[in-house]
Amino acid sequence: MAEFRTIKGTHDLLPDELSNWRRIESTIHSIMEQYGYGEIKTPVFESTELFVRSIGTDTDIVNKEMYSWTDQGGNALTLKPELTAPVVRAYLQHQLGNKNPLQRLWYFDSLFRRERPQKGRQRQFYQFGAEAIGSPHPEQDAEIIAMAYNIYKTFDIQEMNVRLNSIGSKEIRLIYLDKLRISLAKKSNVLCANCQTRIEKNALRVFDCKNPECQKLLDENAPLIFDSISEDDRKHFDTACLMLDNMGIPYFHDKKLVRGLDYYSHTTFEITSSALGAQDALCGGGRYNGLIEQLGGKSTPAVGFAAGVERLILAIDKQENSVNPPDIYLISLGEEAVVTASKLASDLRNICGKTVLLETLRRSLKAQMREAGRCGAMKTIIIGEDELAQNKVIVKNMASGSQQEIPMADITRFF
Ligand code: HAM
Repeated sequence: MAEFRTIKGTHDLLPDELSNWRRIESTIHSIMEQYGYGEIKTPVFESTELFVRSIGTDTDIVNKEMYSWTDQGGNALTLKPELTAPVVRAYLQHQLGNKNPLQRLWYFDSLFRRERPQKGRQRQFYQFGAEAIGSPHPEQDAEIIAMAYNIYKTFDIQEMNVRLNSIGSKEIRLIYLDKLRISLAKKSNVLCANCQTRIEKNALRVFDCKNPECQKLLDENAPLIFDSISEDDRKHFDTACLMLDNMGIPYFHDKKLVRGLDYYSHTTFEITSSALGAQDALCGGGRYNGLIEQLGGKSTPAVGFAAGVERLILAIDKQENSVNPPDIYLISLGEEAVVTASKLASDLRNICGKTVLLETLRRSLKAQMREAGRCGAMKTIIIGEDELAQNKVIVKNMASGSQQEIPMADITRFF
């Protein structure tokens, strides 16, 4: 047993997994480019204040989950628990809005939240996501939702549910929160201790609670924010829905979907998959029209989403979860054959563009053949003493079992 192990809620990515990750990342990259999004990377840590001001003081993330510390210079710092705030910070710092009134940005990065680890929930995890900053119109909401949905479709994820809602503008929310507070206060004794304090501090966050009693009270007593939004906000929501209908994207209007971060306004959405178990959210997002101004910029509308990479991988059929098999496994027997095989492997990679695994453990023929089968090689090339003496190799097709002899000089032409 190793003396040191990964910290609870973190994990190593070993070669078998990482090759799958690379494939997934490159598919996501191509889809993001297809929609005209440019990639952005922000630092691993930012000022704590950025997250407190963006996500909100009474949220689970800020209250309980951030990895924060004060450095030797007295600066309050935090490992990023989400990416929307850092992207907006970068947008403002580099005045990206002056370069183009609409900035389409995407990311693939790792995040940190001190949550209780379980399947699909880690303390260090990866997200991919996109932020479209500049357009107030529903076609931008529809584009973001469609892009997230199409990424999952590309990976052939089954049993997906898209849930959608609108929580309207910040002004409406203040009026609605009064109504919510009054209705919950009447039966506040049935709420959990956490929600009793939430009523006063930020009643909308009661919707984030997992306690069944709190959810029951919301179902029975609470007014829903969608019923308070303005006519214009309703029209915005209906148009976004119409666009999704036209694209053939199925969704469900879930009036309780308010999302657990304070920066949201108007459209909110989540995509879940019943294949995932308890942590069933594949991704979530929505509009955050007030955030850029809140962080010191001029009022700018924006919408985006983020998705857990580990959850996407859990949802992808396990069948696909393997390393790409090599084209050729190169078997050599005897010291002289090894020298020839090493040159041949290099030629097959450089001249023919093949994926080649070269035996370097000098195992027996039987053991090398077994290894070629285990890693799923399409073909094996065998070079033993006899082949070397006759200046030829044996090429074996692993699927059919058929073998042929090829002169050494013709081998690159053959492949
Ligand atoms: P979020 O809902 O906090 O939203 O996270 C988005 C996704 O990240 C979740 O749906 C889930 O797939 C994944 N996720 C969250 N926490 C964990 C965890 N502990 N372990 C593994 N996966 C996790 C946001 O982060 C917003 N910034 C989304 C957004 C972008 N809104 C607008 N733009």
